[in-house]
Amino acid sequence: MMSADLYCYESQSVSFELADESAMYRLGNRLAQCFRAGLLITLRGELGMGKTTLARGILRGLGHTGSVKSPTYTVLEPYDMAVGRVYHFDFYRLADPEELEFLGFRDYLLDAHLCLVEWPEQGKGYLGSADLDVGITQFRQGRRLTLKGLSDAGVEVLARLTLPPGNDLNNQKCIEYQGS
Ligand SMILES: Nc1ncnc2c1ncn2[C@@H]1O[C@H](COP(=O)(O)OP(=O)(O)OP(=O)(O)O)[C@@H](O)[C@H]1O
Ligand SMILES: [Mg+2]
Repeated sequence: MMSADLYCYESQSVSFELADESAMYRLGNRLAQCFRAGLLITLRGELGMGKTTLARGILRGLGHTGSVKSPTYTVLEPYDMAVGRVYHFDFYRLADPEELEFLGFRDYLLDAHLCLVEWPEQGKGYLGSADLDVGITQFRQGRRLTLKGLSDAGVEVLARLTLPPGNDLNNQKCIEYQGS
């Protein structure tokens, strides 16, 4: 028999249609308002789908007011935030996931409050399990974004994002809601 938790995690996803860059940025902002714990978030999607744009919105939502450089060339951009350290990774240019070992990636993971990882598939085997997975695809002139909660903390973020304010989620392990 399938465990209730497993069922729960598999069913916890929600999708958004985002017409333009501003809508993507604003969703990132709103998403960040729903964080209550440290998280590992993977950002998937083809080149130019808007992963960095979402990350900008998230960082802004956490209180960052400066610019957010794409980590495409540097692999990592760190941010010291009130909530703790935030690391924005982009694994696109890794030739081999093993490079993460030399970069000391595990230490970053331990140190981080929040990790945002673009191109996580390029770090296969070195990336722990994510709390939230973001998948972005082309949709008309804009994008379709699907969020999947993969841990208790991740599922709770989705619940906060989709349930009306004022709901106390503290005693609920599993929340049902509908994505669009
Ligand atoms: N919802 C959206 N609809 C239309 N365009 C968007 C949307 N979100 C972002 N964009 C645009 O997509 C382009 C690429 O954005 P971004 O750099 O964030 O993509 P990326 O996924 O990080 O790319 P890469 O794989 O190169 O890191 C930008 O021009 C941005 O304005
Ligand atoms: Mg990017």
